[in-house]
Amino acid sequence: MSAEIGTNIQRATSLLQAGEIVAIPTETVYGLAGNALDPKAVAQIFSAKNRPSFDPLIVHVPNYQCWDLYAQDIPQEATALAKKIGPAPVTYILPKKDCIPDLVTSGHPTVGLRIPNHSTALTLLNTLDFPLAAPSANPFGFVSPTTAQHVNEQLGKVIPYILDGGSCSVGLESTIIDFTKAQPKVLRLGGFEVEELESLLGSTLTVQNSSSNPSAPGMLVSHYSPGIPLKLGNVSQLLNSETQENIAVISLNKTFDDPRIVETLRLSPTGNIQEAATHLFSALRAIKKTKATIILAEKFPEQGLGLAINDRLQRASKG
Ligand code: TXA
Ligand code: MG
Repeated sequence: MSAEIGTNIQRATSLLQAGEIVAIPTETVYGLAGNALDPKAVAQIFSAKNRPSFDPLIVHVPNYQCWDLYAQDIPQEATALAKKIGPAPVTYILPKKDCIPDLVTSGHPTVGLRIPNHSTALTLLNTLDFPLAAPSANPFGFVSPTTAQHVNEQLGKVIPYILDGGSCSVGLESTIIDFTKAQPKVLRLGGFEVEELESLLGSTLTVQNSSSNPSAPGMLVSHYSPGIPLKLGNVSQLLNSETQENIAVISLNKTFDDPRIVETLRLSPTGNIQEAATHLFSALRAIKKTKATIILAEKFPEQGLGLAINDRLQRASKG
């Protein structure tokens, strides 16, 4: 059985208004959405994803002007940033208001608000009179989906409708910034470059992108499981010590000469990191369908989106 896939925003609206959950497109990855103010809808999201209840959900809203319905004591620098960048792959952690159920935030006094930069998602959010709680639309621990078909392969059996908005233009989840402390802190590297955020905020950001960080409980080390072992590093060196016979390689644009390589996925033949980011998760999925028994991934340059790509590959290597 699979879900219905379509571009009918009205259909998604009706289902969401009836308390159902629907997969929606965003510029980062597809989300599994439900009414963030309705604990029953939120509970369905956790159960469809098999997600542990300690891992809070991001709440999607159409603009920053409505933030004060759901958050309080919002620091001026958070609003100023949202005003500057508009809808973007950024999640703002803010002190929550009581209307946001504890289930959404896993009991934390904070809520993650995000304004997705995707026209379908924004139209949907503007037609609803409630915000949408939406984690990435994959079973817990697996690779995030960047097309409607990816969602269908993994969750088609448990959701009624997938709103199709095409391939995600960013391909990595949002960058999460905690604005509840004196100094804003990055809790997850993602689709918006830290360097650009620092220049917009006019200050240096601490990056606390670790699995042991109690303020970002979902950042488990072993996320993004590709189903087979993955090693991250210098592929030429990794090949020298590798004993497996069927090897898949992921690189920015390099190729490697070794008869054991059954698949090489160059994420951007022109060496463009942004393009590479959009192809990362579909590459991890594609490798599953080959006879490769191990993935060797070339470490990306440690700057800009390269940092977020290395973060996801690092976690995939622990899966
Ligand atoms: O790009 C994205 O952020 C996508 C799309 C669908 O918007 N969503 C996404 O959701 O990646 P998810 O659930 O896969 O990851 C959400 C992360 C988790 O690691 C969770 O711990 C963190 O956000 N998070 C959510 N609310 C939080 C809060 N109040 N405090 C700290 N971390 C929070
Ligand atoms: Mg996720």
